[in-house]
Amino acid sequence: MTKIEELKQKLPGIKENVILRDWTTMGVGGVADLFYEAIDIEGLTTALKQTVRLDIPYFVLGSGSNVIVSDSGFPGLIIKNSASNILRIPDASQFLADSGATIAKLISESATQELTGMEVFAGIPGTVGGAAYGNAGVRGVEFGDFVKELTIFHPPQNSLDEPQIIRHKVSWMEYSYRTSRLKKMIHKSQVNKPVILTIKLGLAPAKKEDILERIRQSVALRSGGLDVAGYRHGVQPKGVKSSGCIFKNPGTQPEMAAGYLLDKAGLKKKKVGDVVVSKDHANFVINKGRASAQEIRQLIEIMRHSVKEKYNINLEEEVEYIGRW
Ligand code: EPU
Repeated sequence: MTKIEELKQKLPGIKENVILRDWTTMGVGGVADLFYEAIDIEGLTTALKQTVRLDIPYFVLGSGSNVIVSDSGFPGLIIKNSASNILRIPDASQFLADSGATIAKLISESATQELTGMEVFAGIPGTVGGAAYGNAGVRGVEFGDFVKELTIFHPPQNSLDEPQIIRHKVSWMEYSYRTSRLKKMIHKSQVNKPVILTIKLGLAPAKKEDILERIRQSVALRSGGLDVAGYRHGVQPKGVKSSGCIFKNPGTQPEMAAGYLLDKAGLKKKKVGDVVVSKDHANFVINKGRASAQEIRQLIEIMRHSVKEKYNINLEEEVEYIGRW
């Protein structure tokens, strides 16, 4: 029996040759050799264990909102994480969330359960696991600020070991601006990294109507409204194929925002093929239709180069490149 036949037996529903373009918000990406959608933590863990045992490369995809997948696809198994349970921990202002739950679901659950903290993330596409991995942030608030503990699947270091599932305190993640210990781990094309399974989040009690009002304010700010300090945030493009901000901000002041620097360097509306820098926010690139991943990378290099030339500042990606490049 080949490895693929064996994996098919262990993971009913696994598919071959799936086009990844349809699974990312950027709308690019070639073919994955294998593709499996895990609908709960048990399915996710089984898929990881079997893949590791058969020595097949894996990558776990959440909402596909912060990744750029190569036109050449992925040589192994893509596990789409749709494990989405969110439990309120009894007698505590805490949730235990599956990593594949969407941020939208977490926010709606927090309003129902009258727990505050998540409203600021309203409107961000993505999963709880993706936010915990990349330390997603909005207006100075970081997702890692709410994380208490995580259970993480660790693939074996060598073929003789077994994988391990370990419960870690948040300190293990070593959170800092838009990154974590997991995000920083250098793995070729991001394959076979440890995988977040569940996340314990600490929130605070609040009234439902106050939570709903803060959600409305967060959504309005993403459209360029003024915040409580009277500061206008950049309008963020909506309803288009994009992966949010491409680069991290090189500093904390508004004049050190990647969007500001790229705007001043004249990048808005710059095009390569079917990809264009947003006219609303210069740190967003938009797939106008049938863009290729290669075109996106070319445009990203032009953006990086322009800011380097004009300001001598090195921009570093917030998005990650997946697959064979
Ligand atoms: N600006 C411009 N031109 C632009 C875009 C922005 O001049 O084309 C200026 C704005 O007017 C503002 C400053 O640059 O003075 C910062 O812009 P904004 O308030 O839009 O925030 P940002 O720093 O560009 C960050 C996050 C966003 C997050 C917003 C809102 C990073 C890399 N980006 O953007 O996150 O939504 O703050 O809090 O930290 C993402 O991660 O994908 C993302 C979009």
